[in-house]
Amino acid sequence: MSSNKNVTMKDSASENLKFPEHTKEKLDGIKYYYKVWFNIVKGQNSYIIDFYAGTGYCKIENAISQISGSALLAVDLFKNDDNKKLGVFLINNDVEQCKLLETNISDYIDKKKLQASVGKEIKIIESDWKLVIDEILGSTSDGIRLFLFDPYGIKSIPWGNVELLIKNAKSEFGYKETGFEVLLNWGWHKIRRILGNYYKNRFSNKELDNLDKFFGPVKWKEIVDQYPNTIFSEEDDNKIEKLAYDLIRAYARNFFKFFRYVKVHPIHYRKKRKESHLKDKGKIMYFLIFASNYYEALNIIDKPFKESREAKIFCNLPKGQKTFSDWGINSKEIKPKASTRRIKINDKIKRLEEELGENLFQKTKNIIKYLYNEKSHDYGCPDYVLFDKFKINEEIYIPYLKRTRIIDVRLKRTKRGNIINYYFLTHPILVDRSEYLFLNNEVFTHQDGVFDKIIFE
Ligand SMILES: C[S@@+](CC[C@H](N)C(=O)[O-])C[C@H]1O[C@@H](n2cnc3c(N)ncnc32)[C@H](O)[C@@H]1O
Repeated sequence: MSSNKNVTMKDSASENLKFPEHTKEKLDGIKYYYKVWFNIVKGQNSYIIDFYAGTGYCKIENAISQISGSALLAVDLFKNDDNKKLGVFLINNDVEQCKLLETNISDYIDKKKLQASVGKEIKIIESDWKLVIDEILGSTSDGIRLFLFDPYGIKSIPWGNVELLIKNAKSEFGYKETGFEVLLNWGWHKIRRILGNYYKNRFSNKELDNLDKFFGPVKWKEIVDQYPNTIFSEEDDNKIEKLAYDLIRAYARNFFKFFRYVKVHPIHYRKKRKESHLKDKGKIMYFLIFASNYYEALNIIDKPFKESREAKIFCNLPKGQKTFSDWGINSKEIKPKASTRRIKINDKIKRLEEELGENLFQKTKNIIKYLYNEKSHDYGCPDYVLFDKFKINEEIYIPYLKRTRIIDVRLKRTKRGNIINYYFLTHPILVDRSEYLFLNNEVFTHQDGVFDKIIFE
């Protein structure tokens, strides 16, 4: 098979998949995140669902050996599954690849002596992912879930289906709950190719139809038509990058319907050779979108991405977008609120007392501290835990805590399916409940579709 530098390809039905070099950066990010995520969640039932599972290994162009693909990176976590709470779902719509995936995984389990087996903890499902959403949601509803979308391009991943899945990050009671996270590989290089034809008026309706479906509610044509038809032939990298960011930002905005935190990280073309004909060097190949309702997750995922942002591509650093206003967004620069800085809980309580103009009872302080430590549970707990632990009078104490905006209550369905009252910290001095977009190097608050840039001191 002939080699094409931008196109991901498979050698034959029964061989591992072959990818360009920047794939390693993506896999490094996934590997790191899987590991840290699992260390946090492994006390509870936890699931990784890989909707585009590949064959287990990836052959990287110009490299001799092959590396673990996303499927094996997930399976590798069984090394640390002391509590036996992990489940991995691997979906691939290709029959031959599924067979190879199964062989590769079984061999890997034997080689590494892992306590897991295909068919039990590891389910390989030969299907189009869109057809198994309900089945997967049903089988994983008792645990923490991390979904990975790593498609070749855009055709197989219409927004409508993505939304059918991610709307489940929001509970039936309308709250953006933790425990449901998504990593999605957004194929800018594929979009860019179709747009190249669109600008030249040489597109096929099928291609545009794919773009329409991929973007869903995003009016991509309105964005694209703001740029000259010659944009790709001019080779003005800044303009092309600005278009890419305009589109990804509009796409990422939709995630805020279900998520509070969205992170977008560009993966650049990284070829170690320096041939001058390789025009794509350093250009963005795709974006990884990470969406979560768990604030700490953003800090975790940023580490490998921060490292890669600072890594060299040939001798040039990737040109990140410098300011939000470059993208024509109405944004005002704001300083982070004092409450969003990392200050200790005792100091926060002191500030709260100043704000309320009263000294809090020790019991109130203890409740605040207890809930504050329930970080991974959205700074909250079920009512019975609170009542049992602190022996409080529900009639008097809860109205006081609600009146002072220290806590609020919402309905929540437990992993066992029961509906309970859930108490959680809400006072802005104690917890930061803003929504954030992390776009490459920059951070913005999000409210009702409007982004404000944050300047860190
Ligand atoms: C880019 S590769 C994924 C590589 C993989 N994540 C890895 O790291 O090894 C895309 C994979 O998804 C599979 N695939 C393509 N369309 C699919 C669909 N609609 N549903 C499920 N799998 C699909 C392909 O057969 C291929 O194995």
